[in-house]
Amino acid sequence: MARHLITSALPYINGIKHLGNMVGSMLPADVYGRYMRQRGHDVLYICATDEHGTPAELAAKDAGQSVDAFCAEQHDAQKAIYDGFHLQFDHFGRSSSQQNVELTQHFARKLHENGFIEERAIRQVFSIADDRFLPDRYIVGTCPHCGYDKARGDQCENCTRVLDPTDLIDARSAISGSSDLEVRETKHLFLLQSKLQGEVEQWIDASSEEWPTLASSIARKWLTEGLHDRAITRDLDWGVPVPADVWPELAAEGKVFYVWFDAPIEYIASTKEWADADPAGRDWKSWWYEADDVRYTEFMAKDNVPFHSVMFPATELGTREPWKKVDFLKAFNWLTYYGGKFSTSQKRGIFTDAALELLPADYWRYFLMANAPESDDTSFTWELFSSSVNKDLADTLGNFVNRVLSFSRKRFGDEVPAGAAAGEAERKLGEQIAELLAEYEGHMEALQFRKAAAALRALWSAGNSYLEEKAPWLEIKTDQEAAALTLRTAMNLIRLYAIVSEPFIPAAAKAMRGAFALDGDTAAWVTADEARALASVPAGTAFTVPPVLFAKITEDDLESYRERFGAAE
Ligand code: MF3
Ligand code: ZN
Repeated sequence: MARHLITSALPYINGIKHLGNMVGSMLPADVYGRYMRQRGHDVLYICATDEHGTPAELAAKDAGQSVDAFCAEQHDAQKAIYDGFHLQFDHFGRSSSQQNVELTQHFARKLHENGFIEERAIRQVFSIADDRFLPDRYIVGTCPHCGYDKARGDQCENCTRVLDPTDLIDARSAISGSSDLEVRETKHLFLLQSKLQGEVEQWIDASSEEWPTLASSIARKWLTEGLHDRAITRDLDWGVPVPADVWPELAAEGKVFYVWFDAPIEYIASTKEWADADPAGRDWKSWWYEADDVRYTEFMAKDNVPFHSVMFPATELGTREPWKKVDFLKAFNWLTYYGGKFSTSQKRGIFTDAALELLPADYWRYFLMANAPESDDTSFTWELFSSSVNKDLADTLGNFVNRVLSFSRKRFGDEVPAGAAAGEAERKLGEQIAELLAEYEGHMEALQFRKAAAALRALWSAGNSYLEEKAPWLEIKTDQEAAALTLRTAMNLIRLYAIVSEPFIPAAAKAMRGAFALDGDTAAWVTADEARALASVPAGTAFTVPPVLFAKITEDDLESYRERFGAAE
C-alpha cells in the first residue's frame, strides 16, 4: 500500500465548465483515484475552485454581484455538478480561503528571503477607454511566433508559448476592444525564475522521464526558451494581498498576487482546508512536506503544463523548503466539438450542467474516458457519443446484465442456480478474463485511459461471446444443469464487472453489485485467481434484477440533441 496524492487543475470560478474542461482534469483524476483506492492505496484527491484574477472580477461585475458573493455562489454551483458526476474529492476547496492567503504569503516571504523576489518598476499597459491597467490576458493581439490573431498577453493558446503583452502585434483591450492603450509606470514584485533555471532543469531531468510525451515536451520547450523573470503581482481588488510586513509600499497600493502564483499553492492550502475540518484525524503536512513516501500525480489540459511543470516547481524549489513536487504529470489534448473549440465565452459545446440534465453521469464518464484526448485531440460528435453509448454501454454491458438475470429468474427463481460443475468453456473463459484483467490493470497503472477503457470493453465482450456460444436459452431445452452452469458463470461475470467497472461507471457498478445479496461482500478488487475461477457468487445467492442500466439513445434523441446544441461548424 502506498500513499497517492492526486490533484486536478483547479476549475476557474467564472462559470459552469464544459465537458472539455472535465475530460482533461477532474474526471480522469477521479477515475484514477477510485482505481487506486480499490487497489488498497491510501489516496488523497484534492481540488478546488480557482477564484482570483480578472476573469472572476469581470464575471462578478457581469452578474451584478460582489466578487466574494459571486465566488461563493459559483463554488457551490460547481460543487453540486461535480457531485452529480460522482467525483470523489477528499476536499474541494477554494483558492480564496484564509489557508491559501497564509500559505501564498508564506511562499512569497521564503522566496524573498532566498533572493528570488525583487521589486521592479515596470511600464504597464493602461487602457484609457476602460480606465484601468490591463492584466496580461486582457490584452489581445497577434502572436509573434505563430501569427495566431487572438493571442492573449500572457500566453498564445495556439502555440502554447508564454508571452508578454508587449510581444503582441496590434495589441488591443479585450474588454472594450479599444486600441487606445498607454504605457504607465508602476511597481511590481518579480519572481526571478531565471536564477532557478539550472535547478529546474535538473529537477525536470530527474523527474520527467516517465511523464507522457505531451507533458515532457511542453516542459522542455519552455526550458529551451529560457525561464524569464515574471511579475507575480497585479493591480486588482480581488486576490491574495502582498504582505505589508515585507512590502509596505506595495501593500499600501493594494497590490495582490497574480492568480497563477496563488492557484497552484491552493493545492496545498486545500489540503490544509481538508485537515482543518478534522484536525484530530488529518495531517495535511505529511502529504506535502518532506513527503518522500507520497506519489504525487497531477491532471491537466496541455495549456496548463508550463505552469505546473516549470513555474510551480520553480516556486517550490525557491522556498528552499522540502515541498512535494509532482511525480507524474498527466496532460491531455483538447476535446473539440465537431472539430471546433468548446468555448465558455461563446457558449459552444456541452456544459457540465446541461450534460447531467440530459443523461446520468455514467454515460458521460464512460464516453469521455473511452475517447479521452490522450495522444491527439478528440472531436465530440453526437453520432460518436450515441454509437459508443448504444454499443458499449447499452448492448454489450447493460443488455448482458439484464438478459442473464431476467432469464435466470424466469427459469430458476430468485437464487443463483447450482447446475453442473465448471467445464472446459468456463476454464477458457476464466483464462481470458484473467488475461484481460491484467491488461486493464496495466493500462490503469500507466494512466492510459483509452486503452484501459478498451480492455474494460473487451472484458464485457468476453461475457457476451461466452453467452452466445453456450446459448443457455437453447441449453435449457435439453439440459437444465448445463443452462444453470452458464447462468451462474455469467452472474459471476456480472459481479466482476461491477467491481472492475467502478472507476468508469460508479453508479451502474453499484447497481450491478447490489443485485446480489452477498453478506459481508467487501471485496475491493478481483485477484487473478478469482477472475480465473469465476466463483465468488456461489449457487444459492439471492439476487434481484436491476432496472435497465443504460437506455439506448434513439434517432429522435439524437435529432433533438443536434438541434438543441447545434451540431455543425
Ligand atoms: N484555473 C486554471 C485553468 O482553468 C487552472 C489552475 S490550476 C492551478 O486553466 F494549479 F493553478 F491551480
Ligand atoms: Zn502562437
